[in-house]
Amino acid sequence: MCGIVGYFGPSQNSVEIVLEGLKRLEYRGYDSAGVSFIDEHNVLQNYKKAGKLDNLKIELKGKNLIARACIGHTRWATHGGVTDENAHPHHNDILSIIHNGIIENANDLKKELMSHGVKFKSETDSESFLELVTFELRKGKPILESISDSFKRIRGNSAFVILYPKTGEIFAIKRGAPLVCGINDITSEALVSSDPYALAGIVHKLYFPEDEVIVHLSGGNKNLVNFYELDLTKTTRYLSKKQDMSVEVSEKGEYEHFMLKEIHEQPELIRNLTQYYFAGEGREALEKVALYKPNRIYLSACGTAAYAGLVVRDYLEGINRIPANVELASEFRYRDPILKTGDVGIFVSQSGETADTLAAQSLCKKAGVKTLSIVNVDGSTLFRDCDDNLLIRAGVEIGVASTKAFTQQALTGRLMSAAMAGDLKDEAKKVKLTGKFALLAERIDRLLVQSDIIKSVAESIYNKKGFFYTGRGAYFPIALEGALKLKEIAYVHAEGYAAGELKHGPIALIDEEMVNIALVGPELFEKTVSNVQEIKARKGIIVSIGPRNNEELMDLSDYYIPLDFEGLEELSPLYVNVVNQLLAYYMAKFKGTDIDKPRNLAKSVTVE
Ligand code: F6R
Repeated sequence: MCGIVGYFGPSQNSVEIVLEGLKRLEYRGYDSAGVSFIDEHNVLQNYKKAGKLDNLKIELKGKNLIARACIGHTRWATHGGVTDENAHPHHNDILSIIHNGIIENANDLKKELMSHGVKFKSETDSESFLELVTFELRKGKPILESISDSFKRIRGNSAFVILYPKTGEIFAIKRGAPLVCGINDITSEALVSSDPYALAGIVHKLYFPEDEVIVHLSGGNKNLVNFYELDLTKTTRYLSKKQDMSVEVSEKGEYEHFMLKEIHEQPELIRNLTQYYFAGEGREALEKVALYKPNRIYLSACGTAAYAGLVVRDYLEGINRIPANVELASEFRYRDPILKTGDVGIFVSQSGETADTLAAQSLCKKAGVKTLSIVNVDGSTLFRDCDDNLLIRAGVEIGVASTKAFTQQALTGRLMSAAMAGDLKDEAKKVKLTGKFALLAERIDRLLVQSDIIKSVAESIYNKKGFFYTGRGAYFPIALEGALKLKEIAYVHAEGYAAGELKHGPIALIDEEMVNIALVGPELFEKTVSNVQEIKARKGIIVSIGPRNNEELMDLSDYYIPLDFEGLEELSPLYVNVVNQLLAYYMAKFKGTDIDKPRNLAKSVTVE
C-alpha cells in the first residue's frame, strides 16, 4: 500500500529521482511522505511531512539535496495516526528505514527493546524494526547479519528498505509484500521499489527477489545488486526480467482526472483484447486454458475485482455449465473450503499484489488445486505465483477507483469462458465474439460523447441522502460495483442490492430523499420494473438506466438514461457499468472530492 523507492548510484540527484518515483506511486498511499539521504558531507538527512507528497516537496525547497543514496516513502497509515512523527523514514543516528506492511509482534519487540533503554519516537510498528537492527549493530554485528537476525524475529508480511549511513549503502528485504529492484548497467544505477512502475525509464533490468532474500544495492560497483539468504550466503532466488514499461502513461493529458481518462480508454482496450488473445501474444496462454477441464471453479478476489469475478462466474455457469463460486479472498483464506484435485482457483486482480488474494491463491496451491490469474500487472506476485496467467491488458491504472480494470477483467473472463467452451477452434465463433466486443466498444464510445446527460442527472441527485443501486441477474454485480464506485469517490452512502431483495428489509429506508439507481437491462426486464414500482410507490427518487424508448420505464422514472442494448447480449452489463462509472465520477466532481486519491484509500492493498 505504501510506496517505497530507494536509489544508490553515481548520480548526485538521487533525491530528485526518488521523489519522481514517489510521485508515480502516490496513488498507492498518500497519508504522508518522507525521504532520507546521505548528503555530500556524508551526513544522514531526514525530511518527512504528513499529507500529500507536495507538502514534503515544499519542505525540501531551498535545501541542499545533493546526494548519491536516498530512500523515500509515501504512507498509508496502519499503526499510528497521520502525523509527521509517524511518517517514514524512521531513523536514528545509525540507520534509516522505510516499511510497507505490518509487524504483528511489534508491541512485544518494543517492550523488549525498551527494557534495554531504547526510546521510541513514533507510534508505528515500523520503528521496532529500526531499533531491532540498531540493537544488533550496537552488539558489533555487521550490517547484513544485523538485518538478517532482526528480520528472523519479526512476524507478519512486510517489506523494508534500509539506508546505512556508515557505508552509504541500501539494503532491502521482504516477506509477503511487493519488492522489486532494478539496474541500469550503462549508468551504474541501482534502485529498489514496491512497484516496477516507479523504476520505468530509469532501469533496464528488473529483479523480483523471493521472500527472505536480502537485497544489497551497490550501484557504481561491479555488481550493481547482490542477493543473500538469511544465512548470508549468496543466492539466485529472484526472478529477472527486462524492464519494458513506458513512463508516458502517467500523464493525464486532456483529462481533468486519471479516473476520467481511464474511463475513456475503455473502448480502445476492449478492441485490442480480442486481437491480443485471438491473433497476438496472448494466444498461447488462452490455448493453455482451453485445455482445462475443471470440476468446479473458485474465483477469489477483493472489492471491484471480486465483482468482476461475479460477472465471470455468470459466464462460466451460463455458457460453460461449470459450477463456479465467487469467494471474497479475505474470508476464503480463513475458511476451511473443500478444495479437491480437479478444481481450479481463479484469482482476479488489477495489481496482482493484494495481500488477501495472494493468500487465497496460496491456500489453493497448497491444496493441490491449479491456479490461474486474471491480472493486470505482468510480473506481479500473483502473476509469478499462479500456474497460468491471463493478462487483462488494461495498461497502468492510476485512479484509485478501478474502472477500466473491471471491464477488462470481466472481458478476459469472457474470453476464458469461450476458450473453455472450445470456441478457439471455431473461426466463426471467434469472429462473432470479436464483433460483439467491437459493438460494446462502439456503444461505449457513443455513450462517452453523450455523457452530458449523465452529468446533468448527477447534478440533480448528488446531495441526496442515500443511494440504492438495484439490478437482477447479470446486473446485480453491476449494482454492487456501481455502489462501491460512488461510496469510495463521492463519500456518500450507497448500497448495491439484488432488486428482488429490497422488500425483505431495506425498503424501510426508502423516502423522498433516497435515490434508486435502477439497472434495467433487457433480461428480467418486467421483474426489475416491478421492483422499481415498489420503490416509486414509497416516494423514492428513480434514476433508471434502461432500454431506449421504453415508455413504461420512462414514465416511472424521475430521470432516465437510455441505452441501446441490441446485439450486446451477455456483454450488456459492462455497458451499464460505464454509466455507473460516469455517474459516480460526476457526483464526486459536484461534491468536490479528491477523485483520483479518495480519502483513506490506497490503490494496492498489500496488508490483510
Ligand atoms: C475499488 C478498487 C478496489 C480493488 C481491490 C482489489 O475501486 O479498486 O476495490 O478492486 O482493492 O485490488 P486488486 O484488483 O489490485 O487486487
